[in-house]
Amino acid sequence: MTVETASAAAYIVAALLFILALAGLSHHETAKAGKTFGIGGMAVALAATIALAVHRDISGVGLALMIGAMAVGAAIGLWRARVVEMTGMPELIALLHSFVGLAAVLVGWNGYLHVESTLGGTVSAEAKVLEAQELLGIHSGEVFIGVFIGAVTFTGSIVAFLKLSARIKSSPLMLPGKNYLNLGALAAFAVLTTWFVINPALWLLIAVTIVALALGWHLVASIGGGDMPVVVSMLNSYSGWAAAASGFLLENDLLIITGALVGSSGAYLSSVMCKAMNRSFISVIAGGFGIEAGPADDKDYGEHHEITAEGVAELLGSADSVIITPGYGMAVAQAQYGVAELTRKLRDRDVDVRFGIHPVAGRLPGHMNVLLAEAKVPYDIVLEMDEINDDFDKTAVVLVIGANDTVNPAAAEDPGSPIAGMPVLQVWNAEKVVVFKRSMASGYAGVQNPLFYRENSSMLFGDAKDRVEDILRVL
Ligand code: TAP
Repeated sequence: MTVETASAAAYIVAALLFILALAGLSHHETAKAGKTFGIGGMAVALAATIALAVHRDISGVGLALMIGAMAVGAAIGLWRARVVEMTGMPELIALLHSFVGLAAVLVGWNGYLHVESTLGGTVSAEAKVLEAQELLGIHSGEVFIGVFIGAVTFTGSIVAFLKLSARIKSSPLMLPGKNYLNLGALAAFAVLTTWFVINPALWLLIAVTIVALALGWHLVASIGGGDMPVVVSMLNSYSGWAAAASGFLLENDLLIITGALVGSSGAYLSSVMCKAMNRSFISVIAGGFGIEAGPADDKDYGEHHEITAEGVAELLGSADSVIITPGYGMAVAQAQYGVAELTRKLRDRDVDVRFGIHPVAGRLPGHMNVLLAEAKVPYDIVLEMDEINDDFDKTAVVLVIGANDTVNPAAAEDPGSPIAGMPVLQVWNAEKVVVFKRSMASGYAGVQNPLFYRENSSMLFGDAKDRVEDILRVL
């Protein structure tokens, strides 16, 4: 068996391992096994790629560069994975997508400089061979599409990273005629591609790179914070297609298969999330297409009521049923251990305590479930939004711990709200609601929350962990 055949076989094994990884990741119980398959697949793929490079007479310097790059990449990857906080995971993922995008742009440019470019005044040997086989146009098309998708992914992911890490405002950028800007960029891409296939001039590649970088930036900047989870999974999908495009250029079947797996699974996840948040998939992937700027929400909702930790302890002392709806603030405050302790104390007093988990509470899917499991809250009292939403009107006290958008009644009641139609936990139907947060500031989507001003709501200001501990002391 030659090295070429062996590596082709290894690529098939790696592709199968990646498919098993995806299958494993689709359920909690098998997620760990899924990860192991993924790591195995990547190890096989790397080994086969190195073996192939050696077999194809890569120079000593080339091999050293390749191994050096892998070592640096692995070291940075290990370091980041070790230090990243659970709350910082989505922004790290967004940043990693930008690397895939950038790699696709570089592969595309490299492909061009090796084949089509006549910068040195000569036509490359590769170009002559492809020309004779009438394949040069296909190569140019691959270069152009790879660079375009890669550049959109690159800047789009950087904006997502900046928004998720609150380095820039999460509210949507509303340029006048923004939909026409996006459509114009797509039309320019179509025209430039045709032109480039006919005449692969350098300036066309520069032009498409600039158009795509601007489009990626604008697409994601136009999407509001509330839709960011969908955007991250959509960028995941784009990064897959960018990798697949690089696979065609590099004639690497595994990269094509892996790219297609990531691309299609990311697109599917985005559509599932859109359904869960009652968002239009097309509108989100087209940078908020069809959503126009609404009037600023400066409505006067009236006065809010404050409550003290002692007051909450008293309420809990006389309650027979309690639902806790945690959100991002619980993660920031690391209040899950106190919350678990409070749950134990109340259950010891025969209070029916349950948790209501919104599908996008926190900053990544399953964020709250992971935190509560870490603090040893029993699984059977942690319920999904749909399982618990009808029970709020039979509940004495709801504790909203660091959640905001996910309990915002405007989503259900105000058709003009930027988050209108997003399913939310209907906490306001309970007898009494206590909201734990540090101020009256809005949540991730940057939208005011009328819940805070309702007659049956009270605000318990301060860090969620400190306040829960205060309540525990009184109890
Ligand atoms: P948010 O709407 O982001 O609200 C969190 C609240 O926690 C804030 O209002 C903040 O108010 C409060 N808070 C922050 N630190 C706190 C602390 N130390 N102690 C007490 N309170 C604290 O959270 P949510 O309800 O969980 O909603 C999630 C949002 O993130 C949604 O808009 C969702 O679309 C978006 N998102 C979700 C994901 C996924 S997949 N889950 C990914 C990206 C974005 P103060 O500042 O006043 O304290």
